[in-house]
Amino acid sequence: MFFKKKMQHDYDLDMHNIPGHIAFIMDGNGRWAKKRKMPRTYGHHEGTKTIRTLALEANRLGVKAMTVYAFSTENFKREASEVEYIFKLPKEFFNLYLKELMENNVQIRYIGHLEMAPIETQNIIKEAIQRTSVNSGLILTFAFIYGGRDEIVEATRIICEKYKNGEISLSDVTEDYFEQHLMTKDLPPVDLMVRSSGECRLSNFLPWQLAYAEFIFDETLWPDFDEEHLHRAIAIYQGRERRFGGVLK
Ligand code: FPP
Repeated sequence: MFFKKKMQHDYDLDMHNIPGHIAFIMDGNGRWAKKRKMPRTYGHHEGTKTIRTLALEANRLGVKAMTVYAFSTENFKREASEVEYIFKLPKEFFNLYLKELMENNVQIRYIGHLEMAPIETQNIIKEAIQRTSVNSGLILTFAFIYGGRDEIVEATRIICEKYKNGEISLSDVTEDYFEQHLMTKDLPPVDLMVRSSGECRLSNFLPWQLAYAEFIFDETLWPDFDEEHLHRAIAIYQGRERRFGGVLK
């Protein structure tokens, strides 16, 4: 049973200017756990609850897509036990929340090298994708074993191969064409990127896609990030003037 927490602060959101796609760098799980003298894995466990909370609220607000950085290609540098634990989280997450996400019309997707995950993890994620594929609400994408530079290099390889085979000419390679070879090709443009825990860097997350996104770096540790922090981020976003390289009106 989940009880909706009463918000301390009511942000007056403009419902006609809700970001279409929000990307989250879920940072601070380890510090959150350390503060409680708990193992880092406990922070990741609690962090999954935040994904559920924000997905449901983003969906309710009419956000079209939400992408979460669940595991980077660089995260393999962590202790094997932590990596193994994170690979078990999709099972826990979908066992607990898939039914509710289905009821709320949420569609699950992933970007990244899922084939590098244990077969059980792959199957759990593929099953969630398949079961939710007809849903038309929020698209919740897990960036799982994802690296932005790797994604760009991969797209470049595919395009070079097509050029080598004579399928395309050099003038075909435009920004739009390139974008069609990224893992995010079917997702709307990212409007807003939020990183929790106060760290101010991208860590190889969607470097191409975030070129014109608004950035918000929030001090809150990921397991503490809730609906109210989401509203605050959207309110800040709505207060910014996006110019896409143009001039102030
Ligand atoms: C960053 O915090 C968090 C991660 C590297 C992993 C985040 C993963 C989840 C929340 C769960 C993924 C869930 C599914 C369903 C795939 P950190 O460990 O870097 O925190 P720290 O900076 O405080 O050490």
